[in-house]
Amino acid sequence: MPRPENPALIDTFGRVATDLRVSLTDRCNLRCTYCMPAEGLDWMPGEQVLSDDELVRLVRIAVERLGVTDIRLTGGEPLLRAGLEEIVARITALSPRPKLSMTTNGIGLARRAAGLAEAGLNRINVSLDTIDPETFVKITRRDRLSHVLAGLAAARDAGMAPVKVNAVLMRGVNEAEAVPLLKFCLAEGYHLRFIEQMPLDAQHGWNRGEMITAAEILAKLEASFELTPFPAARGGAPAERWLVDGGPGDVGVIASVTRPFCAACERTRLTADGAVRSCLFSNDETDLRSLARAGARDEEIADAWRATMWGKLAGHEINDAGFAQPIRPMSAIGG
Ligand code: GTP
Ligand code: 5AD
Ligand code: SF4
Repeated sequence: MPRPENPALIDTFGRVATDLRVSLTDRCNLRCTYCMPAEGLDWMPGEQVLSDDELVRLVRIAVERLGVTDIRLTGGEPLLRAGLEEIVARITALSPRPKLSMTTNGIGLARRAAGLAEAGLNRINVSLDTIDPETFVKITRRDRLSHVLAGLAAARDAGMAPVKVNAVLMRGVNEAEAVPLLKFCLAEGYHLRFIEQMPLDAQHGWNRGEMITAAEILAKLEASFELTPFPAARGGAPAERWLVDGGPGDVGVIASVTRPFCAACERTRLTADGAVRSCLFSNDETDLRSLARAGARDEEIADAWRATMWGKLAGHEINDAGFAQPIRPMSAIGG
């Protein structure tokens, strides 16, 4: 199909990407078992990582020329990126001003939440799979639960509402945590979302039979709470939401595997080394860093980005027989 003249990030299925996820680094200070091996991974060499100027330029092109309105900073762990506050300030100074959020593991956030909010960050999602210190060590291989809890509280106190919590449930590891996590988040005013584990770990250890499904998660919650479908429209959001005990508290489930939401996807992704991906699960990428370093003009870069998105597939194909896990691990894509 020939690509029509259209400045936006459109694809052949009629979707329009307005939401950009930018990975700032592939490094992390945790070693979550569903993400990385204990010894970590071979990190991207420094010269391959976009400089701040290169990164802000690509984001500016997305905002000025491609219709991107929402940006999320991811990692690895984005708090490990040097000069993060400056990057936040530069992105939120763009015109039209994008909404800016970040997904983090929360370590070090306690000291930085207020400064990030001041620099313009609007919202924060924090990964937290358990509120039990021993289970936390089992999952992340680091004894840092108290740091994450302090980070969450600091994000809330800095006014970055709603603060969301992401929890991946794993059989035999933290499946008993569903109810305690929800009680904790309701009491603290955080919006909890449970995530079905996806085949994205560097060790290729994902196993469909082991995965805790959305249906199981809901059954566990319904034993303790009354859930009613959330009244507002879902739009392109990955989370399906329910009011808990009549509200106002709510809980979400991100059921990428058993209830895929690809048909409503509004996302495009930029990796820390400057590759554009049309899908979390893509195996094709477009190297914008080389284009930029070779002196390409803004419009050439914009058009390479549009062409990448035009090639976006209908969905992630996790449920198809021929599914192949992406070559890049989750930590180098940004989730
Ligand atoms: P909100 O805008 O605050 O709802 O954020 P989000 O849920 O879109 O982003 P977050 O970074 O908190 O991601 C939560 C979970 O959704 C993670 O497990 C992501 O990997 C997953 N996720 C994010 N985007 C996509 C996507 O395009 N497809 C799939 N399948 N999962 C996604
Ligand atoms: N499946 C589902 N979610 C994952 N995350 C990391 N790895 C996986 C996986 N294999 C989550 C993290 C974080 C977000 C960016 O993605 O917990 O909250
Ligand atoms: Fe780090 Fe997030 Fe991977 Fe855990 S899931 S090791 S916090 S990048």
